Amino acid sequence: MKKIISINLKNNKYNILLSQLDKDFLTAFKKIQKTTSLFIVTDKIVEKLYLQKFSDLLEQQDFNIKTAVIPAGESGKSIKNLSFLYNKALESSINRKSCAIALGGGVIGDITGFFAATYMRGINFIQIPTTLLAMTDSSIGGKTAINTPNGKNIAGVFYQPKLVWINTAFLSSLPAKHIKNGLSEIIKYAVVFDRKFYNYLLSALKNGIISSENFDYIISQSCSYKAKIVEKDEKEITELRAILNFGHTFAHALETATKYKKFLHGEAVAIGMLFAAKLSLELKTCKEKTYKEIKSILQLSHFNLNVKFNAVQFLSLMKKDKKSVDGNIKFVLTKDIGEVINSYVKDDIVLDVLKKFSGATK
Ligand SMILES: NC(=O)c1ccc[n+]([C@@H]2O[C@H](COP(=O)([O-])OP(=O)(O)OC[C@H]3O[C@@H](n4cnc5c(N)ncnc54)[C@H](O)[C@@H]3O)[C@@H](O)[C@H]2O)c1
Repeated sequence: MKKIISINLKNNKYNILLSQLDKDFLTAFKKIQKTTSLFIVTDKIVEKLYLQKFSDLLEQQDFNIKTAVIPAGESGKSIKNLSFLYNKALESSINRKSCAIALGGGVIGDITGFFAATYMRGINFIQIPTTLLAMTDSSIGGKTAINTPNGKNIAGVFYQPKLVWINTAFLSSLPAKHIKNGLSEIIKYAVVFDRKFYNYLLSALKNGIISSENFDYIISQSCSYKAKIVEKDEKEITELRAILNFGHTFAHALETATKYKKFLHGEAVAIGMLFAAKLSLELKTCKEKTYKEIKSILQLSHFNLNVKFNAVQFLSLMKKDKKSVDGNIKFVLTKDIGEVINSYVKDDIVLDVLKKFSGATK
């Protein structure tokens, strides 16, 4: 399948290209990159799997390739590694006309984007996502960031790529737990935007797994939802882009409370979506049927939804979340599958639902 989804922003227009063919990528890439100097950033796992083949492909087209490899996993998004990228780029004579290529998951996309935004006041960069989460979420929309010792995504900037190339062939080597990690955000798109897509996912889920023949459709749908939102609210200034945070306020509290060690982000978001549905039910923004529909797709995906926590601690973590204003927590609540609203919720109600939710979701 070859599909192009355009993102039309005020000062920047770029394409998401979905294709398994190298020639489609090369044609699109040569349109946006006019010099031969490339800087590929990847992590140690993706390096072993794909870097040589990908570098060869570009070298055959007379590109001049320099590479930088950082450790795999969330720890890769550090100030130390950012500094390593600046040094490596300087040593490799990467200049203002060069292009950085993020070859990897969301970690690589985020740090490479931040590097590209700041190196010599900004150089071109493209995203080649290799995880399901990166293909459907993090590679699109221009959010870049690194972590600091005090927290996640503390230093970041909006900086759009010039191209996103999604090749689902990369998913053949992705461990099942990381496929599931991406599935959670895909379910979020269905719940937030589209009942038809929700029904499609229900029928595509077999034993908690989405088989690979469904990937093209699921990924292109997900990219379209995200692209539309980013076009309308590039920098999360209005409330629109915030709806993509459905389930995330609780998820961030859960990730912080467990020091980012116990849950992958998608696993935390799955539980967070159920919490948001429960809160919506208590506030009567949705009916019992909608709550059950959200719960059942998460159960069918085999997410562990039973989590025990300290409700008072979680309330205070949620209030610290960057989406909270003047101590009031703003939630994305569901009205029905495909329909959400942003709403401030009083602390006592949140606390009450947190208490009911803890350990009670089996
Ligand atoms: N910028 C955004 O809008 C945005 C949105 C969501 C998440 N994020 C960020 O994304 C990051 C998480 O991304 P992620 O889940 O892709 O994690 P990741 O980049 O750490 O990748 C997960 C693991 O899969 C490995 N891997 C990658 N591609 C592979 C492949 N094809 N085959 C085998 N192994 C492969 C990686 O080496 C890593 O060990 C977080 O830092 C999060 O903050 C950013």
